[in-house]
Amino acid sequence: MLDGKKSLFSGMQATGNLTLGNYLGALKNWVTLNEEYECFYCVVDEHSITIRQDPAELRKRARRLLMIYIAAGLDPEKNCLYYQSHVSAHAELAWILNCYTYMGELSRMTQFKDKAAKHADNVNAGLFTYPVLMAADILLFQADVVPVGIDQKQHLELTRNLAERFNAIYGDVFTIPDAYIGKVGAKIMSLQDPSKKMSKSDENPNASIYLLDDPDTIIRKFKRAVTDSGSEVVYREDKPGIRNLMDIYAAAGGKTIEEIEKEFDGRGYGEFKLAVGEAVVSILKPLQDEVARLEKDKAYVDGIIRANAEKANYYANKTLRKVQKKVGFPERIR
Ligand code: TRP
Repeated sequence: MLDGKKSLFSGMQATGNLTLGNYLGALKNWVTLNEEYECFYCVVDEHSITIRQDPAELRKRARRLLMIYIAAGLDPEKNCLYYQSHVSAHAELAWILNCYTYMGELSRMTQFKDKAAKHADNVNAGLFTYPVLMAADILLFQADVVPVGIDQKQHLELTRNLAERFNAIYGDVFTIPDAYIGKVGAKIMSLQDPSKKMSKSDENPNASIYLLDDPDTIIRKFKRAVTDSGSEVVYREDKPGIRNLMDIYAAAGGKTIEEIEKEFDGRGYGEFKLAVGEAVVSILKPLQDEVARLEKDKAYVDGIIRANAEKANYYANKTLRKVQKKVGFPERIR
């Protein structure tokens, strides 16, 4: 809770390009949440350097992610869109929480084990304490809810444990966050393997539609999407490829599955794939135009970044000061 309003926090890494799955499954559904929650969407650049990054590239991607948020409809006056590195309280609270987190707990994190195996030449301490920084993100804003994918559930569980542990010692300091289960967005699968989720880290670029793919690329990727045997556009267990395309068409065009089956009755996969491609182009084109416009309006975007960092700092420092006092740091003399 923040100032009597429920609070929502989500963080996203700027590494990799956002996909249609991120958009239809998450982003698109976030635009009205500010009516119910005080919303914070943080670009977690401090998390990103747990894996070695190219500095210029990281900076460019982080800014682009903020612009995509705005272009997707997150009103930056009503949602706090900011960079983690602009709010030093994240790192400060993470340090304190480190001192309340056990090595054993962190060793059990499956994402740490996966990433350590994948980047065996750089198993740094930041990678190990990554979940503690994430806990700090969430707890600083007294988040009631956190929209996270299944891969982040374990980190959220750790966050709850840390908050409860801290509260048990010092009293009611942190709100205990829950996973956000609201209106669920469409779950979009890979275009090349419909048993896998569409992912921004997929090695095959044909498996994902990236939000900034140009129209020709989008149409081409849908034409190449794997389908199933047969030729009818029907939503059936044995047709995972077609089902995925129908889900995308439904989410992009606001149609129901029944309407789609009727629309393509007696028409083949080819025509259907083209229609899905066109529907996706028509929702992504306005978003891309808006990103291009923001790209040119440096002063406007800078203004948003400044104002939102200030807002984030205000709330984050409020929690941090409370925590610092609880653990015994001296009061600031003014
Ligand atoms: N670890 C998350 C991911 O990779 C990103 C993240 C960082 C996050 N801090 C967060 C998500 C706080 C939710 C809340 O997806």
